[in-house]
Amino acid sequence: MFSMVSTVRPAWRATIAIVHSALKPRLTQPRVADARDVALNARVGADAHWRALVACVSNAYRAADGHAARFAASKLKRDPVFRHVFEHGLIPPGATVLDLGCGQGLLAGCAAVAAEAQRRGDWPAAWGPAPTDIRMIGLELNPLQLQRAAAGGLAAARFVLADMRRADFPRCDVMTCIDTLHYMPLSEQDDVLLRARNALRAGGVLLLRVHDDSAPLRWRLGLWIDRITRAVQGGGFEPVHGRTLESWCTVLTQLGFEVECRPMNGRLPFANLLLVARQRASRACTIDCVDVRSAGGSASQAAPGR
Ligand SMILES: C[S@@+](CC[C@H](N)C(=O)[O-])C[C@H]1O[C@@H](n2cnc3c(N)ncnc32)[C@H](O)[C@@H]1O
Repeated sequence: MFSMVSTVRPAWRATIAIVHSALKPRLTQPRVADARDVALNARVGADAHWRALVACVSNAYRAADGHAARFAASKLKRDPVFRHVFEHGLIPPGATVLDLGCGQGLLAGCAAVAAEAQRRGDWPAAWGPAPTDIRMIGLELNPLQLQRAAAGGLAAARFVLADMRRADFPRCDVMTCIDTLHYMPLSEQDDVLLRARNALRAGGVLLLRVHDDSAPLRWRLGLWIDRITRAVQGGGFEPVHGRTLESWCTVLTQLGFEVECRPMNGRLPFANLLLVARQRASRACTIDCVDVRSAGGSASQAAPGR
């Protein structure tokens, strides 16, 4: 062996030395994390934060209502809309929030746990601001859901038994309507949207989770599930009322909102959208009913067969 090495010619020895020195740093230095690693770690951290929040919200219902606890765990895990609202800071600190059709108060529960995490210094730095010091009011038609909301007992929220079609809306900064408007006919939806617009402060935001009626097959699956759920909850097997994305945007734009549309399905085969509708900062006047109805509310078509 020794004699073989010693017989290698000097030019070859020099080449081997150069190649070896070029490879050495890579072989001996630890691998520096690249951008993909950083993004993956952030994602894993964010997922863990969300899981912890979901567990907290779900636990809050457990003592009073096992069904509500299981529903909270499953819904908050599978439906991306709640995480999206908090990850993107769509409810700013100090806001007054009106949640129309609040159900069992999941949004209020998430907000309360998020604010607590922020106070502990445990809110992901990459997320939007946590909803600290907010005032949350939930309106709900179904007394059982309202009982569950109260049983959650997490938030400094007020839950009110009320029909959003008739209730007075207090002045607020954020109004949310997650999967609720399609339960009422289009003319009533228009009226709710108009009153929402007038109750929002300048610069306020309306968060609407709706379906896009122009995606017929996926849309129908989501709607059938909603109809069945409502029937099981004692609300009757009534029709639901949809609009195309274009129609949603027309109505909201004519009410003076700037509309941004974000697909919001997660892994579910639905046609769900989150419409982030912002009031312009300098809102000049209150619109009355005649204006908005002539402005396009009635241009929307009810989904056939519903
Ligand atoms: C699909 S659930 C969504 C609940 C909640 N927004 C959530 O995402 O967890 C729809 C809720 O809207 C409520 N709702 C329907 N019509 C309403 C109305 N006119 N006024 C108040 N609540 C209503 C129902 O009782 C139901 O709890």
